[in-house]
Amino acid sequence: MKIDIIYATITGNNELLAKAIAQEFKKHDQKAVIHEFEDTDVDDFNDSDIVVIVCYTYDNGSIPDESLDFYDDLEDTDWSGKICGVAGSGDEFYGRDFCVAVDSYSEQVKKTGANMPADAVKIQLAVDDSDAPVIKDFVDKLLAADH
Ligand SMILES: Cc1cc2nc3c(=O)[nH]c(=O)nc-3n(C[C@H](O)[C@H](O)[C@H](O)COP(=O)(O)O)c2cc1C
Repeated sequence: MKIDIIYATITGNNELLAKAIAQEFKKHDQKAVIHEFEDTDVDDFNDSDIVVIVCYTYDNGSIPDESLDFYDDLEDTDWSGKICGVAGSGDEFYGRDFCVAVDSYSEQVKKTGANMPADAVKIQLAVDDSDAPVIKDFVDKLLAADH
């Protein structure tokens, strides 16, 4: 199975989250390859079975600048048959804007026709042990989905 995780980070929290998700896949003997948005195009994942997007949220709930091209390209992408999940670290300090980029990506990926079997994961700042159950559930659902 080809599993890819694509992340954006400024201060490292979403890199940690991407690694925590990859670690969870590893517990199921599944290798997930981690990429940064800057180094990838949507087309790089045409043959992936599972794609996970991990991103921070910036000013007033915006998606990461470095992922804008990727986000726009998803608009014309057919990922039907692919299993996708979205996760991200934000800061509850921002109130209603907490992790809004995760919701934006969820909506955008949904338009591709991808199968999204797991609820999006929203993490407060740096991932820690208290987040383990939600990450486990997320990965379990991605792996259990028909494909
Ligand atoms: C200028 C600025 C604006 C931010 N705006 C939001 C926001 O609207 N919503 C949110 O949930 N977090 C917001 N954050 C918090 C970051 O998303 C949060 O710190 C996240 O963990 C950063 O991820 P990173 O360490 O991977 O860069 C903002 C942070 C900064 C510095």
